[in-house]
Amino acid sequence: MVLRAKAMEELAPTEPFKRPAWPGNAAAMSKCKVCKAPAIIDLPRHNANFCGEHLQQLCRRQVEKAIKDFRMLEPGERVLVAVSGGKDSLAVWDLLVDLGYQADGVYIGLGIGEYSDESGGYAQRFADERGLTLHTIDLRDEYGYDVPTAAKATRRVPCSACGTSKRHLFDRAAHDGGYAVVATGHNLDDEAAVLFGNTLRWDIDYLARQLPVLPGDEHFPRKVKPLVRLTEREMAAWCIVRGIDYQVEECPMAAGNRHLGYKETLNAVEARSPGSKASFYLNFLDNMAPILAESRQTVVEGLGLCERCGAPTTAGGSTGPGGSTEGGAPRVCAFCRIVEKSAAHEPVPVELVTTQRNGRRR
Ligand code: AMP
Ligand code: FES
Ligand code: ZN
Ligand code: ZN
Repeated sequence: MVLRAKAMEELAPTEPFKRPAWPGNAAAMSKCKVCKAPAIIDLPRHNANFCGEHLQQLCRRQVEKAIKDFRMLEPGERVLVAVSGGKDSLAVWDLLVDLGYQADGVYIGLGIGEYSDESGGYAQRFADERGLTLHTIDLRDEYGYDVPTAAKATRRVPCSACGTSKRHLFDRAAHDGGYAVVATGHNLDDEAAVLFGNTLRWDIDYLARQLPVLPGDEHFPRKVKPLVRLTEREMAAWCIVRGIDYQVEECPMAAGNRHLGYKETLNAVEARSPGSKASFYLNFLDNMAPILAESRQTVVEGLGLCERCGAPTTAGGSTGPGGSTEGGAPRVCAFCRIVEKSAAHEPVPVELVTTQRNGRRR
């Protein structure tokens, strides 16, 4: 198996271990906790080392537990997996198929230069090699814009237009394909970092909604995160053990964002005290989420249909003078507003937006 340098870095431990871990000479020095065969990875939060076989067993069990505890999926349910071409989403697709779910993928071409071209390639090759179905949606071809252009046109950070576009298109793809549920590759590191940010601000609305399952209704598919009990490093190891080639690079537009800073901070805590990240997030779900349930808005008030695309939206329209229908603003969803602004804007190359971000000129 060819292991690329960056992929190996992802397996680097978050603390200086006394025993060498993967790849190194761990095999010669440490043994799998379960079968005593040479270990390929050490997982300090489990206080154990694992061989490839038993690492896979651990990942399967953690996903099964998440699915069961949070009632994510029915046995054999048809699932649409949002696949970015990165390790987490390819791993969750692989795991769901492995566990017997009928899982198809959807990839959204965001037009972030070479990064997107390569990411789409990884997703497509994964599907082709396994005979799986991958739906592909290209923002530029189908909606006349890409994320760098949307960032400029809307004068917002790229992740904002990107997130709105992805959420809308996941919902649409699920609706059009008759999938009741969309699975994403958010892992324990992602969720802990978001929780950390929400806690620093004591953002009760966001905290109340930070759950591994968002129930569906007649308008929206259920959203599930089957990897919430597994870390980034475990997912990188899963991919390597399973021979899954994936996009190793981070999105160039996300470089330096707050979320990555929170991850680094939590990694520093984890390095001193293994298991902290999991208890921070999983104990939040056990102990705090039920208390916050009261502040969760269950009824989405003012939900109507977008007059452009027909999608359900909380955006309001307005009536004209004197309450007449003439001269009022139409009800237009956030996605259609991005399309409206961005498709009319001349295409902006990714380099321009990333350079300006790094130079803090935006
Ligand atoms: P991110 O928002 O980049 O942290 O990604 C979170 C999750 O969203 C990933 O694990 C995927 O499940 C999904 N995702 C991200 N980018 C894409 C994409 N371009 N196409 C489809 N799904 C994506
Ligand atoms: Fe959305 Fe990078 S993937 S801005
Ligand atoms: Zn073993
Ligand atoms: Zn719309």
